[in-house]
Amino acid sequence: MKIVVSGTGYVGLVTAVCLSEVGHTVTCVDVVKEKIDMLNEGKSPIFEPGLEELMQKNKDKLTYTLNGKLAYKDADVIFIGVGTPEKKDGSANLKYVYEVAKEIAENIENNAIIVIKSTVPIGTNKKIEKYIRDNLKHDVKIEIVSNPEFLSQGTAVRDTLHAQRIVLGVNTKHAEEIMKRVYDGFNLPYVITNRESAEMIKYASNDFLALKISYINEIANLCEIVGANVEDVAKGMGMDSRIGNKFLQAGIGYGGSCFPKDTKALNWLANFNDYELKTIKAAIEVNTNQKLKLLKKARKYYDSLEGLNVAVLGLTFKPNTDDLREAPSLENIPILLDDGANIKAYDPVGEKRFKKIYPTEIKYCKTLEETLENADICFIFTEWDFVKNMDISMYEKLMRVPIVLDGRNCYSLESFENTNIVYDSIGRKTINQNKIAKDIAKN
Ligand code: UDX
Repeated sequence: MKIVVSGTGYVGLVTAVCLSEVGHTVTCVDVVKEKIDMLNEGKSPIFEPGLEELMQKNKDKLTYTLNGKLAYKDADVIFIGVGTPEKKDGSANLKYVYEVAKEIAENIENNAIIVIKSTVPIGTNKKIEKYIRDNLKHDVKIEIVSNPEFLSQGTAVRDTLHAQRIVLGVNTKHAEEIMKRVYDGFNLPYVITNRESAEMIKYASNDFLALKISYINEIANLCEIVGANVEDVAKGMGMDSRIGNKFLQAGIGYGGSCFPKDTKALNWLANFNDYELKTIKAAIEVNTNQKLKLLKKARKYYDSLEGLNVAVLGLTFKPNTDDLREAPSLENIPILLDDGANIKAYDPVGEKRFKKIYPTEIKYCKTLEETLENADICFIFTEWDFVKNMDISMYEKLMRVPIVLDGRNCYSLESFENTNIVYDSIGRKTINQNKIAKDIAKN
């Protein structure tokens, strides 16, 4: 079976590499030359733990090319795993999916199954099927299968090889059988349904998780007001198996390439169909506010941020990725800069991409020490291990005013009890709030 995967981003490349791991020979297609060059040198263009090792291990089964025309020509199964970014109105931009669909239609010479892995609005699989059939240049049969992806960045390889389910939206028994042959080596449970339901499973799953996060974030905000501790609350809730203990970690909101875009896209789709999706609208609104929570906290300590030395720990939207999409750092840093703060940031993995957006406006540090030295306040945006495992006495030793605003609840409250560090986290009481007199900080 000749398998081709179009798109070498998180979804496409991880899918291709995992398919090779279970024995398939896979051709990866992309339109970006630098990516294909890197892949041909054995390097992954994305930071994803374990991926490069698996690429190496299966290098005889993987080919990378810019030549989609040739790759699609005699393919049996073609996966489309290109991006569907957000448009200004919140809807999904299907430009790249259609570009690939066109190239497939114009070049396939074999009957083929075309699998849409990209997250696409409900009804897209059907439209793509018609589009490809209308543009075919040869007399071949095609079928479209919806096969959404549930991998998380940072754990993408494990999430794919040990997925909890494989969702297949199919129109025919034939397509189902071929897809089961593709996934035979994974030995995972299937959910077989129609294509609209498969498309909806993806949005409904992502949006439910986003809603769950926004829910615990609202509870956290209320915990701070009424003196409860959100971690204990989440623990108590999570032990109820009907609720489950995952995705109950309060913080400064969800970011990344999926939750923000997929909540907005489903909300857009509902509006377009004259339906108001109240829960998802609320999740989006809560998340927008939550991302600025640390700034609000900072203003409790300082009337003005002008001239303050701000230490920033973590720039990426979550640990173990270099992805900055919708990261809270990107919401906060422009405001801090506007307010006249001097920013020093530390994120060895996220730095490179952040520098492209802010090349000179902030100082990128090489060590935690350098970042914290003389800081008047510290913002933690990402729960990287280097933050969680650092010696917290560094805050006291190095900062001019040791105020730590932790957007990801990286530490236990107890660890700050015998220190002079003001530790202000999410949904928990602030430790040592009164130790640093407000007027000292406001100096
Ligand atoms: C997500 C989904 O988990 C995955 O199934 C889908 O295919 C793509 O979108 P990803 O964006 O890689 O994956 O990361 P995830 O680990 O889900 O985290 C998303 C955001 O939610 C991060 O900003 C994270 O910090 C935040 N989050 C997650 C919380 O704030 N609290 C939690 O309890 C969990």
